[in-house]
Amino acid sequence: MKNIRDLPNLSGKKVLLRLDLNVPLKEGVIQDETRINKILPVINFLLEKKAKVIIISHIGRPKGKAKSELSMRPICNNLEKKINQKVNLFTEDIRKVKDRNLFKNSDKNVLILENIRFYSEEENNDLDFAEHLATFGDIYVNDAFSCSHRAHASIANITKFLPSYGGLQLNSEVKALQKVTSNIEKPITCIIGGSKISTKIGIIQNLIPKFDNIVFVGGMANNILNFKKFSIGKSIYEKNCDEIIMKIFELSKKNSCSIIYPEDVIIGKKLEDKPVPKKLSEVNHNDMILDIGPRTIKKIDSLINSSKTVLWNGPAGYFENPDFAKGSYEIVKSIVKNYESNSIYSVAGGGDTIAVINKVKAINNFDFVSTAGGAFLEYLEGKTLPGISALK
Ligand code: 3PG
Repeated sequence: MKNIRDLPNLSGKKVLLRLDLNVPLKEGVIQDETRINKILPVINFLLEKKAKVIIISHIGRPKGKAKSELSMRPICNNLEKKINQKVNLFTEDIRKVKDRNLFKNSDKNVLILENIRFYSEEENNDLDFAEHLATFGDIYVNDAFSCSHRAHASIANITKFLPSYGGLQLNSEVKALQKVTSNIEKPITCIIGGSKISTKIGIIQNLIPKFDNIVFVGGMANNILNFKKFSIGKSIYEKNCDEIIMKIFELSKKNSCSIIYPEDVIIGKKLEDKPVPKKLSEVNHNDMILDIGPRTIKKIDSLINSSKTVLWNGPAGYFENPDFAKGSYEIVKSIVKNYESNSIYSVAGGGDTIAVINKVKAINNFDFVSTAGGAFLEYLEGKTLPGISALK
């Protein structure tokens, strides 16, 4: 894979830079800036080399529709302060722009295109859209490892139309994960939570043969509880997953991998409610499961204590409300305790997972923290990520 550092001359070149600035937002306020901080080196590198930078990113899943709450505006403002120069937010419909030079009437060196997922062509990996995007740059750089599991236009097909390179952050994430996967020590416990159920549930069957324990928490666990015929009330879950879950349990038996899911939960009637601990049998139709309960926390702690490697992706509950963050914080505590006594190798990944870890200031108490969530899991699975293979 060619790296942007290998390019001798970037002066005056327009660089289309795909980043993952999909940071957690609450009412337009950035909840965790790690993904922005991690890409500052590539922007500063390009600016030092006198390149002009056109940033492409998505936030959330607007499904091809412009949604003001998923605008890149807050990120643009944040980035301006961090790089200490003006950054233009390009809000015109990029599909209708004919002039190749987006910097024509501007003295700026950096601009951000509005959320690329406002265009349905992005997720469809539309070839014409990718070709059109490519006309705005001389070079393409992917520094978005955490999106590289997506075969989307600005990640995959765009590389057909421009000389394409990997960025600094992508390079370091791939190197670190290569190291993790080549030296992995058993028993391995993988904790999977979060709310992006459809993204992850299919991946798990491929992880089963590699791991000793798979622990489901957060939104992921609701699907298991529902499958096991426990009431999950109004909790988030994904429909039509029973077949996959059945397969997960079958495969886990064959491969001696234990599947662990909550034994007790914390519920609220709404997201901004107060926490109420409940046994699984007590959850009723208007409850929302928003965290794991104390027995489950204890069980996860003892599993972590008896593991040699712990991989974690996805919070255990609705951590955005501190009343439902205890389960996630206790997972951090347990991992950090074992990291400090040198008894485990610990790796965490994902935007929300990083946000949880940052809230308790433990980002330096893991062996490796990846900005990637879904891409991290797919990499562990041994899959070739479309964004990476497109660069080769
Ligand atoms: C992530 O947060 O993992 C990446 O930004 C990819 O987001 P997606 O799961 O919506 O494709």
